Amino acid sequence: MGTSFDGALAGEAGPTGLVPGPGCRVVAVGAAVPAAVLANRQLTTFLSTSEEWISSRTGIEERRVAPAEMSVADLGLRAARTALGAAGLPAGAIDAVIGTSSSVDATFPSVACRIQAGLGCPPGPAFDLQAACTGMIYGIAVADAMVRAGSARRVLVVGSEIFTRVVDWRDRGTAVLFGDAAGAVVVGPATDPGSEILAARLGADGRGADALVAGAEGAGPEGTGTIPDPMSPDRPAPPRSLGRVVRMNGREVFRFSTTILERLVRELAAAAEIAPADLELVVSHQANSRILATAAGRLGLPIERFAVNVDRYGNTSTASVPLALAEAALAGRCRPGASVGLIAFGGGLTWGGILLRWGDTAVGLDDARVADRRAAAVPVGTRDGREEAGG
Ligand code: UT7
Repeated sequence: MGTSFDGALAGEAGPTGLVPGPGCRVVAVGAAVPAAVLANRQLTTFLSTSEEWISSRTGIEERRVAPAEMSVADLGLRAARTALGAAGLPAGAIDAVIGTSSSVDATFPSVACRIQAGLGCPPGPAFDLQAACTGMIYGIAVADAMVRAGSARRVLVVGSEIFTRVVDWRDRGTAVLFGDAAGAVVVGPATDPGSEILAARLGADGRGADALVAGAEGAGPEGTGTIPDPMSPDRPAPPRSLGRVVRMNGREVFRFSTTILERLVRELAAAAEIAPADLELVVSHQANSRILATAAGRLGLPIERFAVNVDRYGNTSTASVPLALAEAALAGRCRPGASVGLIAFGGGLTWGGILLRWGDTAVGLDDARVADRRAAAVPVGTRDGREEAGG
């Protein structure tokens, strides 16, 4: 699978890359993961791979797998409810819903429409956007622009993935990488003092489109046999409604990912007139721990400055950044007032970054395996220590 991507620079985006206007913030972050775990060891029973290869080449130890009866919208709904619940926001407070997923069950209706109906939000706009693993960053940037422009007061952005239904479980080059999860973010007007979206950078270079594909055209020659169900490899996987599989030129995408991650950290820092070392936390798309380590090394930053949870979830595409952000915040890694960079990259090729000043953002995680994290799904204190119901 060839690509002519040459690492072109993101276009001129102005000082912050944001629509001028009153400030915006991330009001709430929520994430949800299915309970079933698929460990590397289980993959070795039906793929020509080893626990050592997966662990050392990707950093991944296990991933979650959604049950057959769960839809992409169902999982997204759980993340959305977690975000709204953490902020104490009713569904009626959401003016617009943006969905983003690379593993949709159907081309339409959109995941966003399903989530709007599931939550009982007012009948404002609801639509999906497609930017592969960068979808959540694109979604937050679009939501920010809608709020700044005055067309919505609060926008819910949901990234939801059941990638285990898109993966070809006969292809060891991709099957070991992905997992299922959802993440949700509510974007609304900034409060003072509090959290704020300080800068955004979006880009794409379609010359690299063939490097990472989920589509019928990618259903190449990995095998003409039946794709197995990863949880019961002696049985065939359930039929795929859109007939797709993921194919990737791993080395090419690895090179792109490390280059663009480093560049986005520098660009976000420059937009805020700070040094990369002043970013207290980088929450990057979790594709491979070696990508994070390589970019950290090039930036001269300790890896501790990066959120890393790819070991427990694998690559969850659009859900990856909000899931890593929720976990980092619940672990106390987001100090009020801290500069936090959210960065993603993926198919398209696409990339995007959002720089946040952390403050009064409510956070929750819905994971049946970690009961105490559920208990932590409460509003986080504001910068001066007050508690706020959100919005
Ligand atoms: O979400 C969008 C962003 N995604 C990414 O950024 C992913 C970027 N790419 C990667 O993370 C890495 O390229 C991979 C993890 C996909 C692959 O790692 P790599 O170190 O680049 O391996 P490679 O593709 O260069 O393959 C090295 C060898 C090959 O064997 P030969 O040709 O050297 O004999 C592969 O066939 O490793 C083999 N290999 C495997 N061996 C055991 C590939 N996958 C596996 C496997 N188990 N699962």
